[in-house]
Amino acid sequence: MNRRYRKTIIAGNWKMNKTPSEARQLIDELKPLISKAKWCEVVLCVPYVDIPVALRALKDSRIAVGAQNMHHEESGAYTGDVSASMLKDLGVKYVIIGHSERRAYYHETDTLVNQKVHLALKTGLRPIVCVGETLEQRDQGVTLDLITVQVKAALSGVSAEKLRQIVFAYEPIWAIGTGRTATSEQAGEVGASIRTTIRKMYGARAARSVTIQYGGSMNAANAHDLLAQLDVDGGLIGGASLKAADFAAIVQAANQ
Ligand code: 13P
Repeated sequence: MNRRYRKTIIAGNWKMNKTPSEARQLIDELKPLISKAKWCEVVLCVPYVDIPVALRALKDSRIAVGAQNMHHEESGAYTGDVSASMLKDLGVKYVIIGHSERRAYYHETDTLVNQKVHLALKTGLRPIVCVGETLEQRDQGVTLDLITVQVKAALSGVSAEKLRQIVFAYEPIWAIGTGRTATSEQAGEVGASIRTTIRKMYGARAARSVTIQYGGSMNAANAHDLLAQLDVDGGLIGGASLKAADFAAIVQAANQ
């Protein structure tokens, strides 16, 4: 991470875990443990139905609330979906876009991801855009090319002024929920490549202000090494964000 130019952001992605009552309990456990987070921004991306509870519980803290998805249209006949303006109106600050689970299970494409990025920015939500390769793609040696395509597509038509609002999360699919973390060198290499892509599109100044997270089996034991990489500016944490002590330890590593 490079604190001179950009914010370190540690975000928990609870995925489809925790009922509203459980959410309240976890946040109550978490709050006293991370009250001293001074260097980094902390975000909890909770299930939609947990958002009101999370916002209430975090009202007097420095922890922000994020959503895990949003629809790509502003409003309309999309039964069961949730819009960007609904999230904004509640007080949500961040929204995860293009998580590999959504790309895989709901067939979200790079084009859809780009549409969502535009709508999130227009609505005043900060998108956390996920990119990453499968194990097969890594073995084929196409990781950097593939991620360049994903980054370029996500940013298509985004102005330099809005770019600052975007966070990227490099999440190798083979490392998600598997306990198999990318080495810090692998995470750093992809982080640097993402920044190079952004630099080519927007120039050096804009590129150095973008936060690039790593996600995939990040935990208290490996966080320090991952975050020591120049182009790893935070984490998007799944499993370890469901345990207060584990998540707090990651925030602590980012605060050192
Ligand atoms: P895990 O930390 O459980 O591997 O999940 C990572 C992730 O997908 C965060 O979005």
